[in-house]
Amino acid sequence: MPSRLTRTSARARLQKLRAAIRDHDHRYYVLAQPSIDDEAYDALVRELSELEHLFPDLVTPDSPTQRVGDQPTRTFPPVTHDVPMLSLANTYVEADVTAFDDRVRTGLAPDRPRYVCELKYDGIAVSLVYDDGRLVRGATRGDGTAGDDITANLRTIRAIPLQVPGVKGRIEVRGEAYMRRDDFERMNSEREAAGEKLFVNPRNSAAGTLKLQDPREVAKRPLQFVAYGLRMPLRGPSTHHDGLQKLRAMGFSVSRHLRRCSTVAEIVEFWKEQGAGREALPFDIDGIVVKVDELRHQERLGAIAKSPRWAIAFKFASRKAETRLQDILFQIGRVGTVTPVADLEPVFVGGSTVSRATLHNEEYIRSLDIRVGDTVVVEKGGDVIPKVSGVVLAKRQPGSKVFRFAKRCPSCGSSLFRPEGEANTYCENQQCPAQIRERIRHFSSRGAMDIEGLGDAIVDELVTRGFIRDVADLYALSQRAEDLSELDGWGKRSVANLLDGIEQSRSRSFDRLLFALGIRHVGESVAKLVAEHAGSLERLLSLTHDDFDEVSGIGPRISQSIVHFFADRSNRRLVERLSAAGLVVRAGPRSRPAQGPFAGKTVVLTGGLESLTRDDAKRRIEASGGRVASSVSARTDLVVAGADAGSKLAKARELGIRVIDEAEFLKILEETASEA
Ligand code: IVH
Repeated sequence: MPSRLTRTSARARLQKLRAAIRDHDHRYYVLAQPSIDDEAYDALVRELSELEHLFPDLVTPDSPTQRVGDQPTRTFPPVTHDVPMLSLANTYVEADVTAFDDRVRTGLAPDRPRYVCELKYDGIAVSLVYDDGRLVRGATRGDGTAGDDITANLRTIRAIPLQVPGVKGRIEVRGEAYMRRDDFERMNSEREAAGEKLFVNPRNSAAGTLKLQDPREVAKRPLQFVAYGLRMPLRGPSTHHDGLQKLRAMGFSVSRHLRRCSTVAEIVEFWKEQGAGREALPFDIDGIVVKVDELRHQERLGAIAKSPRWAIAFKFASRKAETRLQDILFQIGRVGTVTPVADLEPVFVGGSTVSRATLHNEEYIRSLDIRVGDTVVVEKGGDVIPKVSGVVLAKRQPGSKVFRFAKRCPSCGSSLFRPEGEANTYCENQQCPAQIRERIRHFSSRGAMDIEGLGDAIVDELVTRGFIRDVADLYALSQRAEDLSELDGWGKRSVANLLDGIEQSRSRSFDRLLFALGIRHVGESVAKLVAEHAGSLERLLSLTHDDFDEVSGIGPRISQSIVHFFADRSNRRLVERLSAAGLVVRAGPRSRPAQGPFAGKTVVLTGGLESLTRDDAKRRIEASGGRVASSVSARTDLVVAGADAGSKLAKARELGIRVIDEAEFLKILEETASEA
């Protein structure tokens, strides 16, 4: 038993245990590849601390039991850095990197630089000093010359070795203390459950943790450390890249995301790759750092003011920012959808200033408990429309009130309606001025009727002044040219331009007109299918829900919406007026798409088809680029043979023409529809 151990054998056992625990810590915290389970690990630590308890004089400061040895301190003693901790010149644009490269090349000529690109971790810079392989001091950057001695706190970070065997003399390791996003979120939800104040982001939370006066508290927080700099005067590396390899060999965690580059183009490529991959990383980065690789080159280049001439931070445009939510407004869409919109204190994010962001719907606001006056996180995602992605609860002002969604339409005052099971709320008044405006805007937009000269402001004005109440009124405007030119700021020229734009729109194709009507669920491509299927407005008005059954690409939700739209008397009247105004209300001669399974093919239909009419089959073949002929000849490419096919089928066989049955025909059509 331990008590019978001699000092000598105890010392040997202690050394073994410590080495084993260090090795397991390294595997677990740095390599993320543990080789024993927690229980076995705990047993080693227990044995170590029991043994140290018996032989207190054999306890060394670098023993794994000593990570959390210290009592709380009032203040952190200041330390002067051996070599100042510089900061980096920053940029967001390639031109600055090119200028940096030019300066480096000039400074080093005739030598040519090589660079190492690495990630710019969004954490807190720290310096670690080892004397003869023992961690003797850990400090913050402070003002660059002197920082705080936070050795006790840094010792609690398991990814920081307390000891690096075999290293003589004094070395300094610099790197970043940070928190992973998942750890940060877990910690924050625990804090929330305990009613404690929440941290804003992983970086602030790492910074706050390092400032804690009690290392025992620090030890409970999930801090990480990544090393990116080594100063080793004795037998040190000659390049930065070798330094990183050496750090890894010493047991530090070093990022694998690094690349040696020799041109700006390569640097930019790495920057783009990392920018695209940043969301997938478990921690936050805010750019890349480009460093001259050769240490003697670094020395030759030196530093200006507070930053070295041999490195630059090439940052990503931040796609998130915090700002104050000044108000929540409601926007009414053309089909009456009420969208809550955040009115924000303007903030620069992702390359532009944002003052509006979507809040989606009532449910979204409720689930995040977003309140007017809150500090919110604004995010630019893949799409252009910014959104409010969260609330900084820690900054919520006392007395804030739970947000109540509008009960009445802010534009027309009618009561709002939220269908059972739907997230959206609607204003159901078709005559609501906001809806009228949106419908007209949509009608005149690019993919629709594309009316030049009818911008948003003009639509507003025309609606407000009562010149137009629906899209058909646009085509009667020419009779009121005089009244129009009397409006403030509307010269004869601008009126003529507007009327000209409206005139030109009369010849837009039938499918564009259908899209322009703004029928719910009818986008540009569905409009094409519908125009194709119906052939004319007249026929479209007579179609029932069932008539759409066989049209692939038009499901029940769409057909219902179409039938519903045309069942409405005012909509019927509207399209009749548009038709009377001379707009195109039938599908034109189909232009043949260059691609598609039947592109350029001559097809003959023979026999009876079960699932679709001859006409429909013909239309579908033409829609995917083919021609339908009535008789089989040498120029026929394909024959679709239905039930009881007779002489045409025989002729096709005779000529060796490919014949398919209805099932195969449908399959091809289906495939085309799903590709479209
Ligand atoms: S090198 C003189 N490398 O960025 C060289 N810094 O202003 C200075 N940082 O405070 C540091 N990742 O906290 C370097 N791979 C990296 C880095 C990095 C993050 C931080 C560091 C420093 C700031 C530069």
